[in-house]
Amino acid sequence: MCGIVGYVGKQQASTVVVDGLRRLEYRGYDSAGVAIVANGAIETRKKAGKLTNLEAEIIQTPLTPSHTAIGHTRWATHGAPNDVNAHPHVSEDGTIAVIHNGIIENFAYLRDELLASGVTLRSETDTEIVAHLLAAQMPASGNLADALRAVCQRLTGAFTLVAVQADTPDLVVAARRNSPLVVGRGNGENFLASDVAAFIAHTRQAIELGQDQIVEITPTSIVVTDFFGQPVDVTEYEVTWDASAAEKNGYDLFMLKEIAEQPKAVADTLIGRIDTDGKVKLDGLNLSDEYLQGIDKIIITACGTAYNSGLIAKYAIEHWTRVPCEVELASEFRYRDPILDASTLVIAISQSGETMDTLMAMRYAREQGAKVLAICNSNGSTIPRESDSVIYTIAGPEVAVASTKAFLTQIVACYLFAMYLAQVRGTAYGQPNEQIALELGRMSAKVDLVLDTSEGVRAIAKEFVNSPSVLFIGRSVGFPVALEGALKLKELAYMHAEGFAAGELKHGPIALLEDGVPVFVIVPPLGDELHDKIVSNIQEVRARGARTIVLAEEGDESINEFAHHIIRLPKCPALLQPLVSVVPLQVFACEMATVKGFDVDQPRNLAKSVTVE
Ligand code: M6R
Repeated sequence: MCGIVGYVGKQQASTVVVDGLRRLEYRGYDSAGVAIVANGAIETRKKAGKLTNLEAEIIQTPLTPSHTAIGHTRWATHGAPNDVNAHPHVSEDGTIAVIHNGIIENFAYLRDELLASGVTLRSETDTEIVAHLLAAQMPASGNLADALRAVCQRLTGAFTLVAVQADTPDLVVAARRNSPLVVGRGNGENFLASDVAAFIAHTRQAIELGQDQIVEITPTSIVVTDFFGQPVDVTEYEVTWDASAAEKNGYDLFMLKEIAEQPKAVADTLIGRIDTDGKVKLDGLNLSDEYLQGIDKIIITACGTAYNSGLIAKYAIEHWTRVPCEVELASEFRYRDPILDASTLVIAISQSGETMDTLMAMRYAREQGAKVLAICNSNGSTIPRESDSVIYTIAGPEVAVASTKAFLTQIVACYLFAMYLAQVRGTAYGQPNEQIALELGRMSAKVDLVLDTSEGVRAIAKEFVNSPSVLFIGRSVGFPVALEGALKLKELAYMHAEGFAAGELKHGPIALLEDGVPVFVIVPPLGDELHDKIVSNIQEVRARGARTIVLAEEGDESINEFAHHIIRLPKCPALLQPLVSVVPLQVFACEMATVKGFDVDQPRNLAKSVTVE
């Protein structure tokens, strides 16, 4: 959740760190802070609120020039988001500063121990105790890295910790357990961050730290060990995108840019994965045909938007492969004693690859003997690293907190896997793979076409800006699209929004309808067995006073007389329709939040990467 940056090198360290924090602000934006080492002392500046508040503070009270700095943007867990609780936290003697992402679960016990020893705590955070524990450990350990090793052995929970010490300039030390941390290798300078975006403007060479590892960076060295000081092997990789991919590039909002990037993201996720004869090939899948022929159940686990993509994937997987598929919220999965064994394939879907609920669910699945396939957008992140197999979505960096292009590419990646499974098992039920491949290849252009409806969708959003709630209904794959439309509106416009299976309306939710309530209806293509049923649903809601906004394919005139507004979708097969039908719902939520004056890219209370359970 929080964003972490560390730097040692020839540049002005606080500037490098604050620039890095700006690129990580999507991770958390309750407060921000920076600490530098200069002239044998530590200086900090920290401020509640967005990063701009910290920048203003640094302009008002400049920091001493320095080549060593750490910085943090916070998503509060322990203690309110105020100046005092903002990181970095400093030991009582002022010699050690610490920043932290995660939750230290034995915090209360360690706090009581420190209080009993006479330490005065200034904040309500779990992080501050680490600064005091490090200071207490220094005489015995003799150096910061050894002190951090000793302290980490006492901590339980999830943490990335980064520390600097007053009398060791040119050194930043960090530890990682269950929270992300990457190292950037520069020339005469090195970086630490929660995400490569923080240092991509300086270097593309990255090293992902493993569990329970400690790293020490100086301007010219990177040393990685375990918590006991033993050297460990690390894998270095080159980041494939550059700094401009994580910029707004002329758009007012990251979300608008990311919505517009969806045709490319869909096309890129397909590139090289379908042969000219329609056969799917998934390099790096690392699951043998024999294994795939033997699986008897698939469980998809994920959170939020990624979960909604899994709900859509279930329809395609079961239809094309006839393998039973369940979809489970990652936060619920391991607590319901699920039935898993070696013949269960678990698919963990995650844009960030760091979502703690999903990570814990997949670890549990592996402990039970299941294999895990990760569908992920972040190269080298924890979920794919710990999975048996991975299919990367090629969406590029997604910065806006509301997920858009990741959602479309998650659907594409799941469909590619479903087609591959059908190929391996010889079960291409319904349509032959070649035909699906052809249709999938056309979807990028269709997503581009549906973006042309955006102006009209924005006008509709303005009409409903004072509505107390908005409902979304769909059937089959249109149902998860309805859920996703409602999720987008809740998280961005802070409105009451619900998605329903249209057939369920009459079993309860129809009671919510009254004059003027906007209801979005996702209509399957003409000829689909559910088409006429949903046309009846439109009539039902309209008869009860709803204002109907109908998403229907071009040429479908059957809905005209029941729709107050029509959003036209390009023609495509029913199973592929979510790739186009969700786009106007993203635009609607984005516009609604904009008109209401909310921060679209950084909605309240949220963070892009949810690395706590
Ligand atoms: O990084 P992940 O895909 O694992 O994130 C899962 C959810 O936290 C995420 O999709 C969230 O629901 C989005 N903010 C929705 O727009």
